[in-house]
Amino acid sequence: MESTVVAREKPRAAGGAKQHPSGDNRFKMLEATMKRHQYQADALIEVLHTAQELFGYLEEDLLIYVAHSLKVPPSRVFGVATFYHFFSLKPKGLHTCVVCMGTACYVKGAANVVTAIETMAGVRSGETTGDGKLSLLTARCLGACGIAPAVVLDGAVTGRQTPDTVTQLVKGWLE
Ligand code: FES
Repeated sequence: MESTVVAREKPRAAGGAKQHPSGDNRFKMLEATMKRHQYQADALIEVLHTAQELFGYLEEDLLIYVAHSLKVPPSRVFGVATFYHFFSLKPKGLHTCVVCMGTACYVKGAANVVTAIETMAGVRSGETTGDGKLSLLTARCLGACGIAPAVVLDGAVTGRQTPDTVTQLVKGWLE
């Protein structure tokens, strides 16, 4: 599959890396969530939720990164990730578009972005198009409120999106 949703480089273990070596900003956001929960193992499900929202799905390296960061055995993280149906360990569509619907993004028109993509691509939020080319997802706050509305397009966090800018890009994916 050519879609690149998760950074290819190995995540750094716990220790408070400010910037992931891959330069992928999403790790910084994930780190902020873990920090907010003081790296408590109890926050595992919450952290996995955030990871899935940021990355679209829970790739193996990402689960290991979370395990190291929260200092819980990888087996437990994999167990939780596979137990709950709302976690996905595989990318769903060839491309993923995750629209943040947190408060700041919502206020700045995120719902219009979602509606525009749904209409253009003929897909509902949370679903994948029939041809498997696009998965449209929504997330709670991604931690990038300053650039609201934020949209993660095939793994890249982008900001100040409009229904037009996103649909133009997504249209290209569907051709
Ligand atoms: S509400 Fe969207 S990034 Fe915070």
